[in-house]
Amino acid sequence: MKIIKAENYNDMSEKAAQFIFERLIRGDVKVLGLATGGTPVGLYKRLIKHINDKNLSLSALHTVNLDEYVGLSDEDPNSYHQYMEDELFRPINIPRDQTHLPHGDTGDSEAECKRYERLIQDLGGIDLQLLGIGQNGHIGFNEPGSSFSGRTAVVDLAPSTIEANARYFTDKNKVPRKAITMGIGTIMESRSILLLASGKDKAEAVKKMIEGEITEQTPATVLQNHSDLTVIADKEALSQLT
Ligand code: F6R
Repeated sequence: MKIIKAENYNDMSEKAAQFIFERLIRGDVKVLGLATGGTPVGLYKRLIKHINDKNLSLSALHTVNLDEYVGLSDEDPNSYHQYMEDELFRPINIPRDQTHLPHGDTGDSEAECKRYERLIQDLGGIDLQLLGIGQNGHIGFNEPGSSFSGRTAVVDLAPSTIEANARYFTDKNKVPRKAITMGIGTIMESRSILLLASGKDKAEAVKKMIEGEITEQTPATVLQNHSDLTVIADKEALSQLT
C-alpha cells in the first residue's frame, strides 16, 4: 500500500487528477472504474481540465461505475448516471456507449447485476478503480458485514449511509434504501486501486483501513490484501494514524 499525504481537499484532488491523467496518457488504463459522492468532485474538475487542455483522445477508454441507486431512472437528477453526466462525462464528451453504470430501474435488479458483472469481465476487467470510503468503512456500497468475495449485487444501505446521502435530496423520504454495487470480490480484481479520503469524518475509517484487523465488519480493511493500492488522503483523514 502506498500512502500519499495531501495538505487538504484541493491538494488531494490535484494529486489524484495527476495520478489518473498520467496513467491515461501512458495508455495504462483502458477500463477506468469510477466513484460518485462528494470526495471525487474536485478530482473530476481537475481531470476535465487536464484532458481538455491536452486534447486527450478518449476513443479507447471505457468507464465502469461502482454503483447506482435502485429505483431511480438514469434521468433522475439524483441518480449516479446524472451525477456522472454533470461531473465528468458531459465536460469531457466521452462517447456514452463507452460509459457504464448499473441501471437502477430495470425492474429486474438481479438480472441487471449479472449483466453488469459480465460486462466488466467482457471488458477485460478494471485497470484502475477509484474508491471513496464511507464513515463506516464501506467501499462501493458494500456495507459492514459484506462478503469479501461478493460480486455485483443489490444491497440494503446502512442507516448511516442513507443519512449521509440525504444531503443531496430535497425530500429526505426519497433517499433510496437499496443500491446495486460492484461486490468486494469484483473491486479486488481491479489491477490497481486508488482510494481517496478527505476530512476528519473519515479519519476513523481510514485508520481501520490502514492499521486495523482485516475484517468483513470494516469492508475497506480488505484493501490491505491488494497488491497495488494507492491511498491519497489529506492530513485530517490521516490524523488518527499511529
Ligand atoms: C460512491 C461510493 C461510496 C462513496 C462513499 C464516500 O460511488 O461507492 O462508497 O465513495 O460513500 O462518499 P463521500 O465521498 O460522499 O464521502
